[in-house]
Amino acid sequence: MQPFLLERYFARHEFAVQHLLCASDCESLNLAEVLALAPPALLQRWETLHLGYTESQGDPDLRAAIAAGYTTLAAEEVLVAAPEELIFLFMHSFLHSGDEVITITPAYQSLHEVSRSIGCVLKCWPVRTSGTQWQLDVDELAALVTDRTRLIVVNFPHNPTGYLPPAADFAALLALADRYGVPIFCDEMYRGLEHTAHDRLPSICDAYPHGIALSGLSKVHALPGLRIGWLALHNATLLATMQSLKDYTTICNSAPSEVLARMALGAQESIIARNLAIIASNRNAAESFCARHPSLLGWLAPRAGSVAFPQWRGALPVDELCDRLVRSEGVLLAPGSLFNASGSHFRLGLGRRNFETGIARLEAWLESTQAT
Ligand SMILES: Cc1ncc(COP(=O)(O)O)c(C=O)c1O
Repeated sequence: MQPFLLERYFARHEFAVQHLLCASDCESLNLAEVLALAPPALLQRWETLHLGYTESQGDPDLRAAIAAGYTTLAAEEVLVAAPEELIFLFMHSFLHSGDEVITITPAYQSLHEVSRSIGCVLKCWPVRTSGTQWQLDVDELAALVTDRTRLIVVNFPHNPTGYLPPAADFAALLALADRYGVPIFCDEMYRGLEHTAHDRLPSICDAYPHGIALSGLSKVHALPGLRIGWLALHNATLLATMQSLKDYTTICNSAPSEVLARMALGAQESIIARNLAIIASNRNAAESFCARHPSLLGWLAPRAGSVAFPQWRGALPVDELCDRLVRSEGVLLAPGSLFNASGSHFRLGLGRRNFETGIARLEAWLESTQAT
């Protein structure tokens, strides 16, 4: 497998920089905050928790709580593991060398790199700019799908652009996939963070019988450190294959994480409201920052999620811009090359509390430097 560019970039800089302006998660909750949200029964469970191995598929109570968030799902149709691990388990359980796979691009690298490393034939379905918006054209997908297509991989809400398809386009995507009988793997790690509530799409596993949904607590619930995610799908054979492969990755989940995950799911309305308030404030700050420097920056409005992917219009190549910023200012942006993106873009993370301090440092540097 090729190195995971974004994760290697974060491994180098995340814990060293002063201003992490490109994180995709929301300001993490701490342990006391999660415990404060828990009902007495779960607190009791927490205090008397046995730190042994857990059920490989995931704690049954946790799976039931997860399934309750969907309209068509039973607890047996959920597999719990770390989100990144689930991408690996699914791709390795479902795909074979030579399979044709269509993947949204730009993308979080594992959404295309795992299938590429298996030997699949990859086709890219690009999210493009259209004025000050992002768009994804279902007609372009129609030109890519063939009788040999084995899987379509999408990510809604999308990282890094914050793109979310309108309901009619989502329906057209499902109709197209259904015509060819192609399963859709939808990475829904940011579903729940729609900037306007009624824009939320149904989960792929409720909307499409051959839909596989990936979700988890890392972004929407601000708990990436728990390493808890899940796959939701109506395919018992595939679930069994993935569970069996999991015996070679982590076997089972961490018991404390599973209990904390139940607490977070039980309080998700308030956690999501808190995260959306942080995102809304940072989004306004980012948009005005771009508007103050129109010759250098072009704002492209995200519709959902905790990231944005503005355009860099300066003379300096965007990779060099990011490199100079981290070295001289301790400000970390993520250049588009880390997502295999064309054009000149960088990712901004909108979920962290100290965002505006970092933007102020970035702005002061832009105004003082000749490098642009
Ligand atoms: C779109 C997408 N999918 C999956 C993941 C993996 O989540 P985790 O890091 O919690 O394993 C990420 C993390 O950034 C992501 O952005």
